[in-house]
Amino acid sequence: MTKPLEGIKIIDFTHVQAGPACTQLLAWFGADVVKVERPGSGDVTRTQLRDIPDVDALYFTMLNSNKKSLTLDTKKPEGKEVLTKLIKESDVLVENFGPGALDRMGFSWDTIRELNPKMIVASVKGFSDGHHYDDLKVYENVAQCAGGAASTTGFWDGPPTVSAAALGDSNTGMHLAIGILTALMGRQKTGKGQRVAVSMQDSVLNLCRVKLRDQQRLDRLGYLEEYPQYPHGEFSDVVPRGGNAGGGGQPGWVLKCKGWETDPNAYIYFTIQGHAWAPICRALGKPEWIEDPHYATPQARQPHIFDIFNTIEQWLADKTKFEAVDILRKFDIPCSPVLSMKEIANDPSLRASGTITEVAHKERGTYLTVGSPIKFSDLKPEVTASPLLGEHTDEVLASLGYSNEDIARLREAQAV
Ligand code: COA
Repeated sequence: MTKPLEGIKIIDFTHVQAGPACTQLLAWFGADVVKVERPGSGDVTRTQLRDIPDVDALYFTMLNSNKKSLTLDTKKPEGKEVLTKLIKESDVLVENFGPGALDRMGFSWDTIRELNPKMIVASVKGFSDGHHYDDLKVYENVAQCAGGAASTTGFWDGPPTVSAAALGDSNTGMHLAIGILTALMGRQKTGKGQRVAVSMQDSVLNLCRVKLRDQQRLDRLGYLEEYPQYPHGEFSDVVPRGGNAGGGGQPGWVLKCKGWETDPNAYIYFTIQGHAWAPICRALGKPEWIEDPHYATPQARQPHIFDIFNTIEQWLADKTKFEAVDILRKFDIPCSPVLSMKEIANDPSLRASGTITEVAHKERGTYLTVGSPIKFSDLKPEVTASPLLGEHTDEVLASLGYSNEDIARLREAQAV
């Protein structure tokens, strides 16, 4: 089967997580992704948090599948010569270096578009161009703090809290992938490439849209009716941390199930969807609540919502999280068990859909990774192993027209 992005050549000048997540996605969909890495060391994640001595770490293998690896010292003249050739023959260059690094290397946007006017240059930075922090280097949690996620996550009596989800890294990579695909579509119409820039702060903020909604509601009303602070607690002039409250108009909470005393994940998330109130009452064996004026509307329930959650917890006390969800799903109640990573790794449905997939690696044996979360009717993205450092150097150089003697010369100069 021809993959949609087959024929699109990508220079993958990325490292750590944000950039690699983007190019990995494009590689799954068929793009020819050549990862350019410093000779001798490569992407720093190859050696970070290793679980097997001298073998590429999972951090690297799980973010760099389906790619080729070309080692190239792009600070040496010989390395620049190779990169120049690559730029002339490629469609997209993706990078997430610290601010100004590509310019310092001698490959500014102006230089690149002169070499190849069709080139799309896609960058991740911590902050957007012109931002008063645009000189800062940024990692995941820095972005979560700068993008509004940390100040609104956690409990009101605790500090700002970061999420385990890579809102700053992989999320920014996904935004960049959308930008690249848009620029490719644009190029089909204009014949011209363009710069695509995504900042980690902006990408986090894009996912915190409802918190900016809440700031404006708070400014106007002085309270937020769906937050646990309402109606008994205090509001200041900033959006508070809401614990496990639902972010929209549907109150919800994480509730204890059988075994919570010893199992840190024996919980479900329970949502009280307004129009599902009657089924909820029937599921809980509380049919009298359906018409009771203290319970019948969201407004009536909110002042004693935690008493309602307590009652639901009593109902859950003799049910495992899986048993509870199996009952509640029959009543059309939006809920889920809190799944541990171990449960997710062994989930038969996730395995069957390819969202959790096993990959064979030359040196590490088989490992688990997250496959494409995007499903297509005519494409089944297949995840192949990440490359060893420099595994495809000779192959890529030969495809650029270098002879064996040329390759030897580049090796002599320690450029590859
Ligand atoms: N050959 C020669 N030099 C290379 C090279 C290669 N193949 N690849 C990278 N380099 C050089 C760069 O040119 C740069 O040199 P310079 O600073 O002397 O000009 C140098 O390596 C370091 O690059 P940098 O990206 O600044 O690395 P760092 O380890 O100091 O910082 C980050 C890491 C992630 C903090 C930084 O890259 C960053 O802020 N990136 C943007 C935001 C981002 O993506 N962060 C999240 C990552 S998940």
